Amino acid sequence: MCGIVGYVGTRKAMPILMEGLAQLEYRGYDSAGVALNRGAGIDVIKRCGRLQELKKALPKRSAAKCGIGHTRWATHGEPSDLNAHPHTDPSGELVLVHNGIVENARELAGFLEAKGIDFATETDSEVLAALIAHEYQELETPDLFEAVQSALNRVTGAYGIAVMHTSVPDEIVIARNGSPVVLGLGEHEMFVASDASALVSHTRQVIYLDDGDVCRVRAREYEIENLLDQHADRQPVTIDLESTRYELGEFDTFTLKEISEQPDAIRRVLRGRLDKRFNTAHFGGLNLEPAEMLGFKRIKLLGCGSALIAGSIGASLIERLARIPADAESAAEFRYRNPIIERDTLYFAISQSGETYDTLSAVQEIQRKGGTVLGVVNVVGSSIARQCGAGVYLHAGPEIAVVSTKTFTSTVVVFALLALYLGRMRDLSPAEGGRIIEALEKLPEQVEGLVARKEEVAEVAERYARFSDAYFVGRGESFGLAREGALKLKEVSYIHAEAYPASELKHGPLALIDEETPTVAIVPDDDLYAKNISTLEEIRTRGGPLLAIGQSDELAGFVDDCVVVPQTHPALQPIVHLIPLQLLAYECAKIRECDVDKPRNLAKSVTVE
Ligand code: AGP
Repeated sequence: MCGIVGYVGTRKAMPILMEGLAQLEYRGYDSAGVALNRGAGIDVIKRCGRLQELKKALPKRSAAKCGIGHTRWATHGEPSDLNAHPHTDPSGELVLVHNGIVENARELAGFLEAKGIDFATETDSEVLAALIAHEYQELETPDLFEAVQSALNRVTGAYGIAVMHTSVPDEIVIARNGSPVVLGLGEHEMFVASDASALVSHTRQVIYLDDGDVCRVRAREYEIENLLDQHADRQPVTIDLESTRYELGEFDTFTLKEISEQPDAIRRVLRGRLDKRFNTAHFGGLNLEPAEMLGFKRIKLLGCGSALIAGSIGASLIERLARIPADAESAAEFRYRNPIIERDTLYFAISQSGETYDTLSAVQEIQRKGGTVLGVVNVVGSSIARQCGAGVYLHAGPEIAVVSTKTFTSTVVVFALLALYLGRMRDLSPAEGGRIIEALEKLPEQVEGLVARKEEVAEVAERYARFSDAYFVGRGESFGLAREGALKLKEVSYIHAEAYPASELKHGPLALIDEETPTVAIVPDDDLYAKNISTLEEIRTRGGPLLAIGQSDELAGFVDDCVVVPQTHPALQPIVHLIPLQLLAYECAKIRECDVDKPRNLAKSVTVE
């Protein structure tokens, strides 16, 4: 997530800003910058990459006692020095940092371009800076606070901003609508941040701005109004130190935080992509016309680890909804088998980090042989996203924990959308498309309900965490889920876990079933339910402990433990059955006192072969 810091007071601003940005580093970012208001001018220094890149670019010293800073997690516009914040208006006299999205940025840019203003970047933040500067110049008596109010009355969208102008070197104007901004009250100095953890080392007295607030900040005073020029009375509160631990909030690990973020991640991946007029999905970045999409006769999905597993589920969904032959293959295997690349095959490279070397190499191999490949990626502007040049971003936000959770789920949702899109170009009926859209819109709330049942799963985990081996079984897309459940359990709890198609158990693996080898079975209410019940009976008769994840209350009669999940469209079964698997792995790891966020031997992104 992007981070904002600001300072105005009697001390030099630069070191305070850099310390604040360091406190926000955990949030994940890909560029950073500061603006230092000297009065005679504003120095803007910004760099792509980590804070140490920015540090190298900073002046040895700066006398400025007023400044703002920003860490950016790119969602629109690749990570670059140019797209990094702060942004200025064309004159360079006004500068801002901005969290959020200006939804009517294109319209505002048109208005400003008509007045002869040119933009150096593609970012909405630069448009916002130019708009405030325009309003500033329109005022009879220039006043930054009023200019910000006037500009924000023309903006639709979410924002958290901090703004400075060379004419007022002792003032910062901040504003909030949907993206947090906090004012820290000091002795003859004030602090600004998007998150209290960045200012708690200086003060514990803070004011949390409300949506619609605009605040003029000076070293010894502040005033807050809403966008209608009405005074807003906001009382200072004392920060609870514990709650500012790197914005983990009530979570004690990023893994659990990111499991819990899945409802919002699903909302973000769906945003702007449901077309209810034609009961299909819409993508802005495929760079392929419908006629070209119709020309593909096969689809191959490539990735590693969880990305590969998500691809295997995606392939099943594409075959189910679009009736196009589809399969998933390890990118590492694919790139070394001298693959035959077909013109009428559409390839997808799946990677949350966008930096997995094997997946990047597979993309290059496909392109070298003239194939068409799209990216399904979380990190904007990452190597795989850039190499593909087109595809679908997950918009899941930074995933700090090593194990993939919300990005796995968002990837599966992307493929449900792609399967819907491809299906509605072929035989999938409008009615069925409508049912899928209805189910997709219910998904975030259903996932919220499942995440809230964490304690129920924790209680189950108490009985399974002691084992050193486990099987996960399922049929169809549920076999993909079994694979992901086994991988999660291995990664975070170090329990040896294997996944098998449920139908395969009796062909050998059943030999290992005994009272010390539990099985987790995914048993959705689908046309293979009866077959899955037979599998449960095979296991029970051999004394194997059994946990079922399913939708029928009667399952409890066949197993030792059961987690019942809500009904949804068959194409979305994998999502609702996945959450208990993630929580099971998490809870087993906690019981076994493993480092959930940083499992031994693993890296968040495998950028080597
Ligand atoms: C999954 O929990 C692991 N973090 C790992 O398997 C991961 O999915 C794999 O390394 C691929 O990473 P990517 O999605 O960043 O390409």
